[in-house]
Amino acid sequence: MSEQPEIRKGLNGVVADYTEVSKVNPETNSLLYRGYPVHELANNVSFEEVAMLLWNGELPNEEELQEFYDAARSRRVLDEELIGVIEAMPKDCHPMDVLRTAVSFLGTRDPEKFTPDSDHIRDIALTLLAKLPTIVALDIRRRRGEGYIEPDTSKGYAENFLWMVFGDGEGSPATIASDIEAFEKSMILYAEHSFNASTFTARVITSTQSDTWSAVTGAIGALKGPLHGGANEFVMHNMVAIGDPAKTEEWTLNKLKNKELVMGFGHRVYKKGDSRVPTMEEAFKKLASEHPEKDGAKWVEMYDIMAKTMYENTSINIMPNLDFPAGPAYYILGFDIEFFTPLFVMARITGWTAHIIEQFENNTIIRPLAAYSGPAERHVPGAPET
Ligand code: COA
Repeated sequence: MSEQPEIRKGLNGVVADYTEVSKVNPETNSLLYRGYPVHELANNVSFEEVAMLLWNGELPNEEELQEFYDAARSRRVLDEELIGVIEAMPKDCHPMDVLRTAVSFLGTRDPEKFTPDSDHIRDIALTLLAKLPTIVALDIRRRRGEGYIEPDTSKGYAENFLWMVFGDGEGSPATIASDIEAFEKSMILYAEHSFNASTFTARVITSTQSDTWSAVTGAIGALKGPLHGGANEFVMHNMVAIGDPAKTEEWTLNKLKNKELVMGFGHRVYKKGDSRVPTMEEAFKKLASEHPEKDGAKWVEMYDIMAKTMYENTSINIMPNLDFPAGPAYYILGFDIEFFTPLFVMARITGWTAHIIEQFENNTIIRPLAAYSGPAERHVPGAPET
C-alpha cells in the first residue's frame, strides 16, 4: 500500500511562503506591519501613512506624505460612467457585489492592465485606495434615496469618507473628532493580516500573471463570506436580534448547545486572543460612552456578557476577533449593517495590494496537489477499448 499523504484541511498550519508585509504571532498575541506593532500605528499615525508603510516598507517623511496626499486625494472623484454603472445595480443586492463589480469595471478601462510592472500595480493600488470610499459612500446614499456627495480633497481619509456618507449636518460623525478618530483606527486595524483567505486569493490570482483588478475582484469575493470579513455584519445582526442584555447569556449558551458558530469569535491563527481586539474594543467603548443616544451602554453590556459567556463555556476559551468590537462600533457611527464588510475592503485594499506587489516581484504559480479519493478508473459503457 502506498503511503497516505498528509492532508491539512483548509491548509491549516501550512506555511505557504515568506512575506515581509506583516507578522502575526499568536504566541505573543502581536501583529506587526513591516515590524511596527499595529496598536502603535493605530494610536500614532494616519491610515494613509499605514498604506505607504505597507506598500513601501517604511513610514513616509513629511515631504513624501504630502506628495502622497496630493496624489491620492486627487483620485477620489468618480467619473459619470462609473457612477452610471453603480446606479444601474439593484438596490437590494449585497453592497459587496457592487464593490466587486465596480472594481472589475474599472479594470475593463485599463489598457495597461497586463503590464508586467510593479509601478503599474502601485498605481492601481493608489487608485483603489482613493476611489473605494467614494464608491461605498455613493452606494450607501443611493440606497437611502440621497444624492452623491463629491469628495473633498482638503479632508483627511476618514473625515472625507464620513462626510461623503453622512454630510456635515448636526450629529454627523464627520463633524465629531472622536468619531473620525475611531473610524480611522478601525481602518488601520483592518488593513493587513498576512495570509488570510482573501489575501491568499489575491496572491493566487496574481501568481498566474493575471492582472491586479482581477486579483482584487477575487479578494472581494473571498472577503464577503461570513467565515471571513462577513462576520462583522453577522455580529451586529445578532446583537440587534437579541436586543437585550438580559437575554444575551441565554442566547449565547443556546448557540453553543446547538453547536452553532457565534460570529465574531475564534480565529484560525490566534487561539489566545486577537491582537487587534484591545485597541478596537477601547475605541468601541469610547464611542459607546460618547453616544448614549445610540444605546451605547446597551451594546457594551451585551458585548461583555457575550465575551464572558464564550470564554467560560467553551473548552478552548474562545475569545473575540476584530469583527466583534468593530461591528457595534460601526453601528454606533451610523452605518447600515450590510456595509460593514465594504468598510473592511476599504482598509484591506492596502494589505491586498502590498501582497500582490510582493507576489508579483517574486512569483511562482501557486498550485497545490490533491489526493484523489473518487472512484477507481472505469469506462463509459460501449466505449471502444483504448
Ligand atoms: N463559535 C462557536 N464555536 C466555535 C467558534 C465560534 N465562533 N469558533 C470556533 N469554534 C469551535 C469550532 O466549531 C471547533 O469545535 P469542534 O472542535 O467541536 O469542531 C472548535 O471551536 C475549534 O475551532 P478552531 O479550530 O479554533 O476553528 P478554525 O480555525 O477551524 O476556524 C474560524 C476559525 C474563524 C473560521 C472560526 O472560529 C469561526 O468560524 N468563527 C466565526 C466566524 C468569524 O468570526 N470569522 C471572522 C474571523 S476573523
